[in-house]
Amino acid sequence: MKRKRLVCAVYPGSFDPITNGHVYIAERAAAIFDEVRVSILLNLQKQYTFDVEERRAIASEALSHLPNVTVDSFTGLLVDYVRQQDAQVIVRGLRAMSDFEYEFQMALMNRQLAPEIETFFIVTDAQYSYLSSSVVRDIFRLGGSMDNMLPQGALRRLRERFQAHSHKTE
Ligand code: PNS
Repeated sequence: MKRKRLVCAVYPGSFDPITNGHVYIAERAAAIFDEVRVSILLNLQKQYTFDVEERRAIASEALSHLPNVTVDSFTGLLVDYVRQQDAQVIVRGLRAMSDFEYEFQMALMNRQLAPEIETFFIVTDAQYSYLSSSVVRDIFRLGGSMDNMLPQGALRRLRERFQAHSHKTE
């Protein structure tokens, strides 16, 4: 009897930190694919608010309710990582038309590099359409909060990070 091939998807991103919008995409991907690897980019040229271990810890906690989702990190080209993982699909979330241009370019570039890998877009929920990690970081830096948009671990660490920072600079 022919065995069903397992389909593994990589959901890559900076996840600095993971938001409820990302969790929503991971949940929907987990319902479609056998395995989903939420893969956090470590780009040594870029400054992050949270280092890769913190981003991994926040994401693992936020996704612990999804048994077929694991959290990992990668450096270098995404398609090399996807091949290494024996995955077939790249998952990306779409919020608005404005995301599309960049995502379309990235999908075509990745296809050029690795024609066998498919990019799969999942549309976000309307409540998360304006949510991004960079907006969240700015709001916390300026003393605001977004309790219903972030997993508990992300909220806690953002508060610690920016409260600690404001004490240091007083
Ligand atoms: O959450 P982000 O920052 O929008 O995620 C972007 C990410 C990590 C998917 C993208 O920058 C990426 O894949 N980087 C790895 C380097 C790479 O493969 N670049 C070529 C893609 S066109």
